[in-house]
Amino acid sequence: MARSAVYGDFQTPLALAQSVLQRVASFGQPFAVLEPTCGVGHFLVAAAETWPGTPLFGVELLESHAVAARSRVPTAQIQVGDALTTDWSAYNATAPLWVVGNPPWVSNTRISKEGGGNRAERTNTAGQGIDAITGAANFDLAEWLLRRLLADTADSTLFVQLVKTSVARRLMPDVTALGLWRIDARKHFGASVDACLFVFHAGPSAPCPIYASLAADTPMDAWIPVREGVIASVHDEDLLGICTPAWRSGVKHDCARVMELRRRDGLLFNGLGEVVDIERAYPLLKSTDVHHGRAVTRALVCTQSHPGEDTSTLQQTDPKTWAYLQSHRDALAARRSRIWAKSPEFGLFGIGPYSFAPYKLALSALHPDLAIRLLSPVNGRPVMVDDTCYFLPFDTLEEAREVQSLLSLPRAQAFLRARTFPNAKREITLKALQQLDLGKLRDAGPSPHPPSCFALT
Ligand SMILES: C[S@@+](CC[C@H](N)C(=O)[O-])C[C@H]1O[C@@H](n2cnc3c(N)ncnc32)[C@H](O)[C@@H]1O
Repeated sequence: MARSAVYGDFQTPLALAQSVLQRVASFGQPFAVLEPTCGVGHFLVAAAETWPGTPLFGVELLESHAVAARSRVPTAQIQVGDALTTDWSAYNATAPLWVVGNPPWVSNTRISKEGGGNRAERTNTAGQGIDAITGAANFDLAEWLLRRLLADTADSTLFVQLVKTSVARRLMPDVTALGLWRIDARKHFGASVDACLFVFHAGPSAPCPIYASLAADTPMDAWIPVREGVIASVHDEDLLGICTPAWRSGVKHDCARVMELRRRDGLLFNGLGEVVDIERAYPLLKSTDVHHGRAVTRALVCTQSHPGEDTSTLQQTDPKTWAYLQSHRDALAARRSRIWAKSPEFGLFGIGPYSFAPYKLALSALHPDLAIRLLSPVNGRPVMVDDTCYFLPFDTLEEAREVQSLLSLPRAQAFLRARTFPNAKREITLKALQQLDLGKLRDAGPSPHPPSCFALT
């Protein structure tokens, strides 16, 4: 198991730690500096250079890192210890304290998967059930630790933290944010995450200035917590609401070699190379097809019209489909996700009346350009998309066209781009798409001056 998987071990390069401390010089000067998971100590080195003579404290779980940090900054008091159980109130005597650093970039789910023990108790209220399955309930160790530090240290404590931007967003409603500077995590850490420098202290939430990079002096945007789980840019707050119709995920089946068919020479083949002749083959596009605007060449073996539907009725209604499923019963029964345990045999996920809407506006969740494609029926059947796509369902072509032109407005594009997660598993989430209120967009009409910022979240 890679050590970084459980300890979130991404050491900050010294040059980055120095740039961070230069950037926050305008917030004043600390009486003491604490780095709760100090690693090999680059932030403490930078602090010793920036504020000579200032008391420096570090805590680190791994002895080898603590030894390295001590040799780099002999003046710092560095303890080997577990940041999850350390009593931080002991540092309150050193006010105003600055808590600097880069807490572990690792989620509880990841630690559990790796079988590690570096796991905080969950204190947040992220969703359960479907959220846990889709990963929306993923909970970050850094967030847990920072909330604990906020609770244990004096209100005058200033937090100067390199974190995933998602962690900053989650903290924003509960702290006074002073600024968020984007960081190129791939360049500095070789990690594909959206990361930032987040500076904040205890207190009521406030609009947070957003800067394009550490070098930027002028904010390009400001974010405000609007309601539970929603952060808006000040530029697009008026478009926030709930999208009607609702955005949907495409169909999930977890057995491509049986459930996905390719059309060649007028015949359908499955992934095992077998010719398949069944009643319930629906045209299918995957995210790359949607991204490139390709014509339909695939089909989906569509076994249900809603998730709980009993598939045994196919035996009477669609005997060829039933026979095909029977002959691949073992492959379908071996699907691993726990959603299949609760599903009828041969069941699908993400299927519902909306999947059969004749017209759809679809986008790939895996591509950053958010190209929205209008899908029309093929041979009289609605086109399905797979679960790496999101879509809006429509009964008529006119409705679909009207919404397509609304979504192509610069304001709508900017709203959506502002909610992308560059380099994340999914460039945009269903929740983020769902925040764009089409009614408000319609009422607002085209804006002559779309905001020029974004690609942030
Ligand atoms: C993202 S690295 C950052 C290290 C250092 N703060 C820096 O900026 O270079 C996270 C550090 O947290 C340490 N760590 C992980 N879990 C910890 C825990 N429970 N208590 C203390 N340190 C921990 C890791 O060993 C690693 O050094």
